[in-house]
Amino acid sequence: MSDTLNLQETLELTYEKYKNVHEGEVASYIPELTKANPDDFGIAVATVDGQVFSVGDWEREFTIQSVCKPFAFQLALEEFGRGETLARVGVEPSGDVFNSIELDPKTMRPFNPMVNAGAIAVASLIKKDSAAEGVRRFVEKMQLAAGRKLTIDGAVLASETTTGNRNRAIAYLMLNFGIVDDDVDQTLQQYFSQCSLLVNCRDLAVMAATLANMGTNPLTREPVFDFQYIKDVLAVMFTCGLYDHAGEWAYRVGIPAKSGVGGGLLAVVNRQLGIGVYSPRLDAKGNSVRGIMVCRELADRLGLHAFEFTNIGSSFVQSLL
Ligand code: DON
Repeated sequence: MSDTLNLQETLELTYEKYKNVHEGEVASYIPELTKANPDDFGIAVATVDGQVFSVGDWEREFTIQSVCKPFAFQLALEEFGRGETLARVGVEPSGDVFNSIELDPKTMRPFNPMVNAGAIAVASLIKKDSAAEGVRRFVEKMQLAAGRKLTIDGAVLASETTTGNRNRAIAYLMLNFGIVDDDVDQTLQQYFSQCSLLVNCRDLAVMAATLANMGTNPLTREPVFDFQYIKDVLAVMFTCGLYDHAGEWAYRVGIPAKSGVGGGLLAVVNRQLGIGVYSPRLDAKGNSVRGIMVCRELADRLGLHAFEFTNIGSSFVQSLL
């Protein structure tokens, strides 16, 4: 009980410490995203035994954006297996910006499923014949992972569909190399729809805890993800989840994670817990400024880094379970 209180207290202390940080800018290249309140700030943690702790604007919904990418990769692996999926996308960090118009020069595949090119290649697989059906399967999976009904933000979807010419260029480049099929519009509809899913930071924490809990949602106890592919997803999140900040992140925080330009950040502490943060002011690399600060703080306070030798936090968290 006292440890439970401690985890809530840790979140509250962390929230207080960073609530007055105003660095960074809300994303504007998708015009609809500028409507976010830059000061919104929420943190949630869900443990694999089904406890949820939250603070701040944890109920505020925002579009998941790139945080959809690890889940779409998981879905593609489950539906098409490693062979077919990895024929279209690699697992190497690109060390480059998330929307870089480049493919691996040796294989002509996108570098990994966390950058836009890789996520568009994965979306092309998931959509099969029609994006409507592909989106339905994706949303269904995400609802199971969050443990509640989720919807797509039609205004953000329309905004990105109208302005997303850089992603369109990436998709056509991949059509040229046979990575995606010729139904580029359906592929982009699949990808933009995935990115426009509305979630709150509690949803992200529960989704992350579902990955941490070997694929079973710890709140609903429903099986969601095929366990055999979770290690694929966590490995790619660990090495590529924060794009050109991924090395620094692995070094300093040491937890598989994924950021999105909507301001969300999700992190998975394997077999222990999931973290979700929402704060829409982004740094120059498109990652939530306070999201990074919060994860760093929690990793330090709870000893969550994958290679933490003292591991005080691990035993602290284990004592909750
Ligand atoms: O494709 C895009 O540009 C957006 N829908 C998602 C990018 C994103 O979230 C990058 N993450 N930090």
